[in-house]
Amino acid sequence: MFMYYVQAIAEGIYWVGGNDRRLERFENMFPIPQGVAYNSYLMMDEKTVLVDTVDSAISALYLENVMHVLGGRPLDYLVVNHMEPDHCANIEELVRRYPDMKIVGNTKTFQFLEQFYSFNKKENYLEVKEGDELAVGKHTLQFFFAPMVHWPEVMVTYEQTEKILFSADAFGSFGAHAGTLFSDQVDFEHVYLDEARRYYANIVGKYGVQVQAALKKLSALDIHMICSVHGPIWRKNLDYILDKYNCWSRYEPEQKGVVLLYASMYGNTENVMNRIAGKLAEKGVRDMRMYDVSKTHPSYIIADAWKYSHMVIGAPTYNMGLYFVMEALLHEMAGLNFQNRKVALVGNYTWACKSVPILRSLVESMKKMEIIGTPFEINSSMKAAQEPELDKLVEDIYASLVSEGYTNTERS
Ligand code: FEO
Repeated sequence: MFMYYVQAIAEGIYWVGGNDRRLERFENMFPIPQGVAYNSYLMMDEKTVLVDTVDSAISALYLENVMHVLGGRPLDYLVVNHMEPDHCANIEELVRRYPDMKIVGNTKTFQFLEQFYSFNKKENYLEVKEGDELAVGKHTLQFFFAPMVHWPEVMVTYEQTEKILFSADAFGSFGAHAGTLFSDQVDFEHVYLDEARRYYANIVGKYGVQVQAALKKLSALDIHMICSVHGPIWRKNLDYILDKYNCWSRYEPEQKGVVLLYASMYGNTENVMNRIAGKLAEKGVRDMRMYDVSKTHPSYIIADAWKYSHMVIGAPTYNMGLYFVMEALLHEMAGLNFQNRKVALVGNYTWACKSVPILRSLVESMKKMEIIGTPFEINSSMKAAQEPELDKLVEDIYASLVSEGYTNTERS
């Protein structure tokens, strides 16, 4: 077939990956309306070196890409930075085609390789340790471990001549390539940033401490290009994405603003949330996002919670507990180690007053969360007599925003 498509990204180094726009959900969990890219890189030197592979969904294209660039030469090395199947799915086929190919990894890489695969190629393992180097001609590779960014075996590969960091999942993004490969060839903030944040928060977000450790380690390297396995390649303004990763992994908000998220069965809780948002808008707050948790996939809500400084969470009591969808969302956030936000609470009940205490306990199960003011509670529906109490909560949310530096542009 004639289907290969590759691009040279540096002297003797080629992108040989591909895109998947058919997959409905990444990891069978996260919607990817803009698709996803699987990046793999092939180095043509005295030795030939492939860095990671791709998902099985695009194997046919991928293998043709690799064969095309190799142009009849054998593949000498396969570097396995990450053993998750969206990057390791083609190892067995490559071993079949290139039986002498050395597989470069660490102890954990080979443990996972043997868990996922049944072939035995132990004699081809080239086990590396932290900081080890591999000279392949004009290019020399150096390996650094980045455990839990995003699995325990993850390592990154630094190419010393071109100063390229092959970063595995780190600095990746949802979103397929539309022809271009480099972040500077698109308006990254508009085309990719939201999807890069959603990818980070939901896929890597739990491991902020380990991302911080990796960033510290990488700060000692002179990096001119970052090649992730997903999303665009960075060759300009690297500080932009490094700063974003630094902020996201410290669980610091990128922006002052409010995410209002609610569950509502018949519209009464929603009514309170709309009133809060409207009253905040009247005070001049402009940076707000509002979500019905029963409608929007949690990955989008979590991504915006990662972005903004404040949250208002509202939900009814359900079956003597908390409305299930909200409960699941807050468990997911806690599971991602989400932390360090200011939160106001709204509850609703008809005969069993449960939502506020459960909301409070779930929020307080996350680190460095601050509950703003007094939770606002309605008994089936809001009454006019409660307006002053709601105004007080809105005033408290607004005061918290201002104390964090939010600028009310209409009053300035
Ligand atoms: Fe893209 Fe952790 O795999």
